[in-house]
Amino acid sequence: MPHQPPVFARIVTLSRKPRSVIAIYAGSFDPITYGHLDLIERGSRMFDRLIVSILRNETKEPLFSVEERMEMLREVVGVYPNVGVDSFGGLLVDHATAHSATVLLRGIRAISDYEYELQMALMNRRLGPGIETVFMMANEAYSFISSRLVKEVFGLGGSIKGLVPPAVEARLRRRLSRIKRRGD
Ligand code: PNS
Repeated sequence: MPHQPPVFARIVTLSRKPRSVIAIYAGSFDPITYGHLDLIERGSRMFDRLIVSILRNETKEPLFSVEERMEMLREVVGVYPNVGVDSFGGLLVDHATAHSATVLLRGIRAISDYEYELQMALMNRRLGPGIETVFMMANEAYSFISSRLVKEVFGLGGSIKGLVPPAVEARLRRRLSRIKRRGD
């Protein structure tokens, strides 16, 4: 290496030093699917820290409570040391700021997702200009999966093997039999 003046060497060192990038992957996760998990795994390799955050939404009627969803998430993301689980109410950008996160991670499965995602990304950019939305294309193997379809198929007796982790399938089974018992 040719000799460099100390000040130049210092600039090079500073610009090379990676900044710790914290990303938030927010959603309903009612329940988490392998599509979500694929994104979490890939996100955990891209960012220094990834926080999977469940929206506390009073207006939606979820199948699982926020606490149950957080338990399920913890069960499946425990293998990734830099992935955490949280919940939030209010604006996503405020939640991101509270965690010093500069990235909002979102997955895109098909072109039909694009319009909704674009609206959210642009709104979030307006609300939090220092926060970037980063999109990742869903793995093609999971691009047709949604929590809504998983619940519908399972509720109608169809197989959801390979669509959700076994622990989630077990919880779905227990929840469904409880709902059926109540309905009898
Ligand atoms: O799993 P989802 O339903 O696609 O997730 C949507 C979510 C939670 C990312 C979105 O509804 C959200 O960020 N809600 C928080 C409220 C907010 O910040 N709204 C303004 C920006 S769109």
